[in-house]
Amino acid sequence: MTAKVIDGKAIAQALREEIKTQVSALREAGQRPPGLAVVIVGEDPASQIYVRNKHLATEAAGMRSIMKVLPATASQQQVLDVVAELNADATVDGILVQLPVPKQIDGAAVIDAIAVEKDVDGFNPENLGLLAQRTPRLRPCTPYGCMKMLEFEGINPAGMDAVVLGQSNIVGRPAALELLMKGATVTICHSRTKDLPGHVRRADLIVAGIGKPEFVQGDWIKPGAVVLDVGINRLPSGKVVGDVDYAAASQRAGYITPVPGGVGPMTIAMLIQNTLEAYRLRNA
Ligand code: GUN
Repeated sequence: MTAKVIDGKAIAQALREEIKTQVSALREAGQRPPGLAVVIVGEDPASQIYVRNKHLATEAAGMRSIMKVLPATASQQQVLDVVAELNADATVDGILVQLPVPKQIDGAAVIDAIAVEKDVDGFNPENLGLLAQRTPRLRPCTPYGCMKMLEFEGINPAGMDAVVLGQSNIVGRPAALELLMKGATVTICHSRTKDLPGHVRRADLIVAGIGKPEFVQGDWIKPGAVVLDVGINRLPSGKVVGDVDYAAASQRAGYITPVPGGVGPMTIAMLIQNTLEAYRLRNA
């Protein structure tokens, strides 16, 4: 079997066009456009690329993009001061602090300082708690993007055995909550899991978010399974690959997301979507 490739780039583009139309309508009605502030601390090269892409996507949607760049030596207080300033700015609807932050910064404390109604990453305890209670408000962008891709492809996770690889707060945990909310039977595998390949072999749906290049082997994939690859790993050669051995897995899966061009573009589209949702929440 050769898998159907889920074209995240095309789905993301369609969503972004829809959002752009809604933002144009706001502008035409004389409303201020939604504003998204992105805070980056330090010079991590991957983060710089992600932040630049978020900035370009925000502007392309007709929204206002505010960039706050802090040096790698910034103190906890300096970062908290920037967040407080953005919390108080009525023209800012969404705030995102790009992770990872330098080691002198307590990332969790910074995230908790973001006003809950502006937390477009959905990482704040209240927003994650609402997702756990099945009444999500602002949802973490990457898992939300995964769910949108399934919806676009007409894939219903209800009753599926879903295996999430990775237990991060950004991907694994919220992805498991999203899938559970849709009726999947969810297993989360992590570094201490016994027989991880055995779990994957039984999975109807796999979300791979562990950050290990081509870790998931093709022969672990159950024929016809849905494979969502969240990994973005740069090999020494410069090639970017996911957490799944794509060439082999795509011979067995029913559906698979490529890297690049799969989940990555969806994360950005959902961030723009969340910014519009935050704007609506704040102006409701
Ligand atoms: N670093 C990697 N992914 C993300 C994300 O979705 N949000 C933020 N803020 N940082 C990240």
